[in-house]
Amino acid sequence: CGIVGYVGPREAYPIILNGLKRLEYRGYDSAGVAIFDGSEIQLCKTKGKVSDLEAKIEGNIQTNGQLGIGHTRWATHGVPNDVNSHPHYSNSGDLVIIHNGIIENYATIKKELINRGYTFQSDTDTEVLVNLIEDIKIKEGVKLGKAVQIALNQVVGAYAIALFDRQKPDEIVVARLGSPLAIGIGDDEFFVASDATPFIEFTNKTVYLKDEEMAIIKAGRDVKIRKIKDDTLVDPYIQELQLNLEQIEKGGYEHFMLKEIYEQPQVIKDTYRGRLLADQGIIKLGGLEDHIHRFINAPRVTIVACGTSWHAGLVAEYIFEDWARIPVEVEYASEFRYRNPVISEKDVIIAISQSGETADTLAAIKLAKQRGAFVYGVCNVVGSSISRETDSGSYTHAGPEIGVASTKAFTTQITVLTMIALRLAQAKGTISTRDYMLHLRELELVPTYVSEALEGDGKIQEIANVFKDAANFLYLGRGYNFPVALEGALKLKEISYIHAEGYPAAEMKHGPIALIDEQMPVVVIAVNSNHYEKVVSNIEEIKARKGKIIAVVTEGDTTVKELADYIMEVPQIPEALTPLVTTIPLQLLSYHIALMLGRNVDQPRNLAKSVTVE
Ligand code: G6P
Repeated sequence: CGIVGYVGPREAYPIILNGLKRLEYRGYDSAGVAIFDGSEIQLCKTKGKVSDLEAKIEGNIQTNGQLGIGHTRWATHGVPNDVNSHPHYSNSGDLVIIHNGIIENYATIKKELINRGYTFQSDTDTEVLVNLIEDIKIKEGVKLGKAVQIALNQVVGAYAIALFDRQKPDEIVVARLGSPLAIGIGDDEFFVASDATPFIEFTNKTVYLKDEEMAIIKAGRDVKIRKIKDDTLVDPYIQELQLNLEQIEKGGYEHFMLKEIYEQPQVIKDTYRGRLLADQGIIKLGGLEDHIHRFINAPRVTIVACGTSWHAGLVAEYIFEDWARIPVEVEYASEFRYRNPVISEKDVIIAISQSGETADTLAAIKLAKQRGAFVYGVCNVVGSSISRETDSGSYTHAGPEIGVASTKAFTTQITVLTMIALRLAQAKGTISTRDYMLHLRELELVPTYVSEALEGDGKIQEIANVFKDAANFLYLGRGYNFPVALEGALKLKEISYIHAEGYPAAEMKHGPIALIDEQMPVVVIAVNSNHYEKVVSNIEEIKARKGKIIAVVTEGDTTVKELADYIMEVPQIPEALTPLVTTIPLQLLSYHIALMLGRNVDQPRNLAKSVTVE
């Protein structure tokens, strides 16, 4: 989500509205503003884009006022609708809040507040937070800032918040844990936003709040930053921004794709946040718990998807069969729907889609439902057509993916599917407690492993430079990493326009081996696994034909290192989880090659982010 705020001598509304437009890349399913003129609060919010909000406000509400906050939402709790949009009032109508993030323990707090007589309009965790703050403020007789601090010490989760109090017309309180928040410092005025884009033309003096910090900003005063935990004052570190608007939107990265590649450690964490409690041996996916019996009693699970999402489905096939011993078929949605598939009431379908709008996947779901099957969705966009059409599902929480070539959506899809497979395996008793616990703990470490894999970037750039002019590429992998080979080849095709093929390593000798000569780069995923020796033999076969070998290996590998021309290292991790790390160097390789060839990385020719035609 994106948040923005202003307090100072100017009219707040135009600044807030313009800021929201700039932040729209962070989320675009609903938007809202609250403007305060010292006596009246004007609040307007709506499902849809910032332009819908603007239309709703025009002529309908007073937009005078020198304090304002605004929000553009990427839903995580509750479908995108007017009521769930931000800002949210507290029960007294005195406090108004905007929030980006997730409050994990909101259900418990909500229950207590209901017992104390509080009522709620929306399904959001945010409304719970603002009422908790109000309750503390009244109960303890403290000022807004103190109440916020006490409340934040009670919540578990991630947030960037901004709120104000009717009784304090010149003050905004902000806080951050896990979601970004920048404060722009002008002359007697302050700006607040998820990044600096909303205030870049007003000031280049910025303070980025750190995790577990809060600030009270008052027009005409110095900004006061405190640690949420122990109330100590922090010296504000004021930075002079050198970036332009476009660079800031991309978080300082050159392209959205690169930003999204680098976001993966964080979004994988967001995906399992609140769902995975490794210490207690618990996996809990809200959409799954009531339907576990359907999965366990199904003759098979059929996965339908397109493009990169289909590759995530292929990874899931290996994991589901291995751990949960449930037969899995993975189908291109477009083939499934035109094939008169044998599907009945007992079947379970999993539909995977980043956008939740892909026409073929949607049509496959409708067909499966007509035949009585139970359909489970794995989508990124909350409230999307597929999430509404399916019987139940789990969101991936990757945040908006803007680059057309999918990256973080893929790894978060695999994360969700891995959690589903583990939960089913546990329910069925097909996995030993030891393995179950091991995988839970390793899953929690994946963000760290992904960060380590990203450290290879510099070396991958050098490799990209060597091979950027190749006319063809071959990608090989076995087992869990066969789908990663397909995905690696797809990434390269999509953004560099170099022809690339993904193949199961052992299948190479039945055809593609004829293509190998000294001109042919072959990317081989050769990490530690059950097939390691076999993959080594495949590498020998390529080498004997003078192919150039770029191998993805486990850190510390020596055998493949000697054989390969170039290596890209990833950390050691249990085999079933390796796709989450082996895919990282392949994303980076295709990115750098495309960049060196001068391609339009974020919007490759002929491709669309969301394909809503058949
Ligand atoms: C398009 C996109 C791909 C994506 C595919 C499926 O082709 O360019 O990146 O993998 O659609 O999209 P979905 O939103 O259903 O995952």
